[in-house]
Amino acid sequence: MTAVDETAKPNPKYSEGRTSWKSWPDYDAATEGLRNYWYPVEWSSQVKRKPTGVKVCGENVVLQRDELGKVHALHDRCPHRGVPLSLGTEEFPSTISCVYHGWTFNLHDGELVAVITDGPDSPMCGKVAVETYPCEEAVGLVWVFIGDREPHPLTEQLPEELVDPPEYAVGGRIEDRDGDWRLYAENGFDEGHAKYLHRTSWWRILKVMPTWNKIHIERHGRWIYRIEDERYWEADFPGLGVWSNHRWWKIKPKQTQGKFLGNTGGAKKNDPYIASQNYPGFVSLSVPGVLRVAYPQFIHYEFYVPIEEGRTKYVGVMVQFKTGLAKAGFYAKYLGGIRWLFHGNFSGQDHWMVENTSAPPERLYRPDISLIEWRRLVEGGNPFGSDETDADKPGADEQAVTLKAANNGG
Ligand code: FES
Ligand SMILES: [Fe+2]
Repeated sequence: MTAVDETAKPNPKYSEGRTSWKSWPDYDAATEGLRNYWYPVEWSSQVKRKPTGVKVCGENVVLQRDELGKVHALHDRCPHRGVPLSLGTEEFPSTISCVYHGWTFNLHDGELVAVITDGPDSPMCGKVAVETYPCEEAVGLVWVFIGDREPHPLTEQLPEELVDPPEYAVGGRIEDRDGDWRLYAENGFDEGHAKYLHRTSWWRILKVMPTWNKIHIERHGRWIYRIEDERYWEADFPGLGVWSNHRWWKIKPKQTQGKFLGNTGGAKKNDPYIASQNYPGFVSLSVPGVLRVAYPQFIHYEFYVPIEEGRTKYVGVMVQFKTGLAKAGFYAKYLGGIRWLFHGNFSGQDHWMVENTSAPPERLYRPDISLIEWRRLVEGGNPFGSDETDADKPGADEQAVTLKAANNGG
């Protein structure tokens, strides 16, 4: 046995690296998500006059449609004895009655308007209310504002191209998953994994993925974009040999294709509305955890909605700007394959990795500039209707400098 030299410095190779996210304090604290944002929580079509319970940012919310079709969101807890209101029913129009003793609340303002088991003169009425949440519908989804201030309009927060788009079709999947919402957001924007992890997915089975690339990150408005500077289809690793995922059955896109729309299979024709957006890069990310991937014929969005610590609602949405027969064709294709290939198998690989990620500690590498810039974006604050602007925040100047350095290939 060799004696341990107590004075010897530990070999940095074995260092844990960054042991916490404390250098991004807001991000580090956002275990249950970022507050003062709208979150998509359920498909519009799933919310009916029967109450539906959801959890978002650690808050229990009940959704229910009134007799005019408007969706309302209330705190999902009966103040009487704490039973979830989502177990209740609508006994009178525009109200929700708790299943236990029939305390009945107005959907519009949460006021207690009747107590069925205490008679029409119940003295509790007018003295009790449950909190309500701002609630809207857009892109086939119900959105709830979670926060402590006046909500900004949902249209400010929707991806710009969805505010006043031409007619479109939507397909998607909502799934509650184990894993921190931040790890889902980081995985979504993570430059390094797509070409390696997903090379085995059925979605990519006919397409070659690059072996490695060089990128930089650019910020435009509230979005950060991954922008590819160099792409390598194969590489010769010293002493190890050549590696590529090219196979005889896989199609390699032309080098020039797909730089801005899609990454691997540039299309003969780009959708004119998508092309007109002139995205600087094909993958972009914004707060509070919205990923946008612009393909030549559709845009794929992922909303990483925090449910509670360690649990995330994955809202994957594919939007195609088509009408009539083409729209029907998209639905057929989506339900016939894409839903499973893309929102199932492909995105399932991400789910698998996030569940198996254990970070921090972390030793980041060059492509992880994408993660760092995302954390800085969060640290820059809430860009919507906030009284605190990015410029007021410490570190804003530093951020501008780093982004400039990155843009110059640093
Ligand atoms: S717990 Fe809701 S009415 Fe009693
Ligand atoms: Fe992925």
